[in-house]
Amino acid sequence: MPVLLITGGAGFIGTNLTRYWLENHPDWQVIVYDKMTYAASHRNIELFEGCPRFSFFKGDIADRQSLEPLLARADLIINLAAETHVDRSLMDPESFLRTDLIGTYNLLELHRKYRDKKFIQVSTDEVYGSVPEGKATEDSHLNPSSPYSATKAGADLLAIAYFKSYGVPVIITRCCNNLGPFQYPEKLIPLLITNALMDLPLPIYGDGKQVREWIYVDDHCRALDIIADRGQIGQIYNIGTGYERDNLSIATQILNLLNKPLSLIRFVADRPAHDKRYALDWQKLKNLGWSPVVPFEEALKRTVEFYVSNVTWWREIRESPVFRSYYEANYGWRFQDSR
Ligand code: NAD
Ligand code: TYD
Repeated sequence: MPVLLITGGAGFIGTNLTRYWLENHPDWQVIVYDKMTYAASHRNIELFEGCPRFSFFKGDIADRQSLEPLLARADLIINLAAETHVDRSLMDPESFLRTDLIGTYNLLELHRKYRDKKFIQVSTDEVYGSVPEGKATEDSHLNPSSPYSATKAGADLLAIAYFKSYGVPVIITRCCNNLGPFQYPEKLIPLLITNALMDLPLPIYGDGKQVREWIYVDDHCRALDIIADRGQIGQIYNIGTGYERDNLSIATQILNLLNKPLSLIRFVADRPAHDKRYALDWQKLKNLGWSPVVPFEEALKRTVEFYVSNVTWWREIRESPVFRSYYEANYGWRFQDSR
């Protein structure tokens, strides 16, 4: 039975990818290896506990000893393990260097020994920095703005170098912003939904006109599946949709979906070096036969429904000391500066 190893599989995309893979590949085993940082939830792992094709191992991608036997068993490795929140990277860059850069280096080093296994390094559109006009292609200049995107860009460059220097069979994917179930409620969409459900103000950085390109997480999982199957090693694939939306319009749509007043919107102090727009050219992936199937408005509706129906999941997180202290550190001063 072929084996997929998902590092960082207990977070947002990992939980959705695990479910996707178990459902769509009934002949595969899925192993999740995750450090269980604040961004992971034990409830995510519990979803799959009854499935004999699923197994979970707690560990750090920096720990080669515990990772090696799992890697040796795997046929395909998808690396999702990362520190992922831009605002946290501005407050504490070191953990991003350790996991996103050194952690990926560890995986690449292990792959020098296991060169028969395809390794998908999941990166992000943020490595291109702000794209004021047009779209970033895979060959566009890397121009990261935050410690998060800088460490992801560094990991991409290392991965390319390991392909060229040692023949490590790596493929890099650069996806746009995901939305969907099980996203930790510090990111824009789940933060706004859960704040609205609690009748708390919805913090919008700056003027709210920043644009992100959005993808429903299942479409991202399907793209990873197709890239694993048909992608060429040593290549980079952008994963985009063309669904560009600004933050203020997303806040408005969420409030409308929940029948909450627009007066909950609060403009707060902006993020330093806030990228104005992300936009990807994903023709290369289209050529492999992929395109998104869930339009943005449908994706937002499904995501809102998830948070409405799974209050226990997100309340446990929001009431945890780690979330509360983050919220106070990131929003305390912003709300004071609000207009
Ligand atoms: P997430 O923060 O929800 O999950 C990250 C997971 O990695 C968590 O389960 C965490 O416990 C685990 N982890 C962190 N450090 C680890 C370590 N040292 N060893 C092992 N596990 C560790 O993130 P996500 O949104 O699911 O993102 C997954 C990947 O996709 C990341 O690499 C991110 O850069 C990339 N990505 C995300 C988006 C998005 O919109 N969410 C878009 C493009 C790319
Ligand atoms: P985020 O979900 O942090 O993703 P990223 O910055 O990685 O794209 O933020 C998405 C956008 O929403 C970004 O322009 C910052 C903005 N934002 C707010 O306006 N308010 C918030 O409370 C958060 C978390 C983000």
